[in-house]
Amino acid sequence: MWKVQLFKLDYGEAEKQALMDVLDSGWITMGEKTKTFEEEFSKYLGGGVSSLAVSSCTAGLHMALLALGIGPGDEVMVPASTFIADLNVVMMVGATPVSIDAASLDDWNISVVDMKRKITKKTKAIIALHFAGHPFDPKIIEIARENNILIIEDVAHAIGGSRNGKMCGTWGDVSAFSFFANKNLAVGEGGMFVAADPNVFDKGRFLRSHGMSTLSFDRHEGRAISYDVLQPGLNYRMDEFRAALGQIQLAKLNENNLKRKKLVQRYQQLLKGTPLQIPFQDIPENTTFSYHIFPVLLPAETDRLAFIGHMKQAQVQTSIHYPAYREFTYYKNIIKEPTPVSDEISARVVTLPLYPTMTQEQVELVCHSVANFFR
Ligand SMILES: Cc1ncc(COP(=O)(O)O)c(C=O)c1O
Repeated sequence: MWKVQLFKLDYGEAEKQALMDVLDSGWITMGEKTKTFEEEFSKYLGGGVSSLAVSSCTAGLHMALLALGIGPGDEVMVPASTFIADLNVVMMVGATPVSIDAASLDDWNISVVDMKRKITKKTKAIIALHFAGHPFDPKIIEIARENNILIIEDVAHAIGGSRNGKMCGTWGDVSAFSFFANKNLAVGEGGMFVAADPNVFDKGRFLRSHGMSTLSFDRHEGRAISYDVLQPGLNYRMDEFRAALGQIQLAKLNENNLKRKKLVQRYQQLLKGTPLQIPFQDIPENTTFSYHIFPVLLPAETDRLAFIGHMKQAQVQTSIHYPAYREFTYYKNIIKEPTPVSDEISARVVTLPLYPTMTQEQVELVCHSVANFFR
């Protein structure tokens, strides 16, 4: 149906073989492969952190709030420009979300100014997203530290991104990555909970698997007979199939992120003559982007549905990252803080296709279809 779809997996023989190896091993739930994936992941982040493979980024974010002891009476800052998971997890632990505006129409990450303005005595934590794979302003970390605010990084978009030699996901107290099917590292459903502090990491470990002192795999290996329960917990485990896919995808990641970068550069060149406004064009010094998605702004007066319909006619799939959560039925009466920049982004954004196996010709086709719409 699509000539260019929004995202596409980069899977091949290595992924197939990895799945077959798990089948042949006779052990499919969390075991050695998961452990190896976690170790490789921590190494990829430059060391100094420990990683727990989990069932999703949302699970990782939920675990982060629980591990940091956040609950009723605490305020948690959440970007206004983000996926709903960041807001939902705050509600799930009974804390109060405080919506923080985007910095500008060029930088959709959290505004340092709005963050400062909204700090209160109750502010306990911030969930900060590296939007579309563009590392946020490190001043956010500074301000959080000065004000005793715990930092949870949402790294769903930013695997492989870095600033000043520090990989995204190692800046705060806890971070959560997503391996959902459309992500730069894709396993279907999955994620990673990452922490440097051994106490926080241990809390995460118990939260992931029922608070149990041993795992099924320990018993399978003869290392344990039974288990104790040391705290309440959940089942947010990963399985061996996904861990095996994760290892293969991790090995491809840097090369694929470079391919994404080249495609984005081509987009930027070809879209120059159109009325589209492209964010994140300034690359701060010593910064690596991971180019997860390619969102752009339509002119304010453009009918977005007409644009999306036109692109569909041209067999180009587009999306919206993200609708304003303050407009969702449940959140209408909950989110009260003004976030005018994010509101405008939500009203005008359209995401164009981007994935590592996309060809330059496909970028040209998308841009040609965009130009035709405005002609
Ligand atoms: C910014 C952001 N945060 C969190 C998530 C949740 O990830 P998952 O689907 O792995 O739970 C996503 C997923 O799309 C996301 O884009």
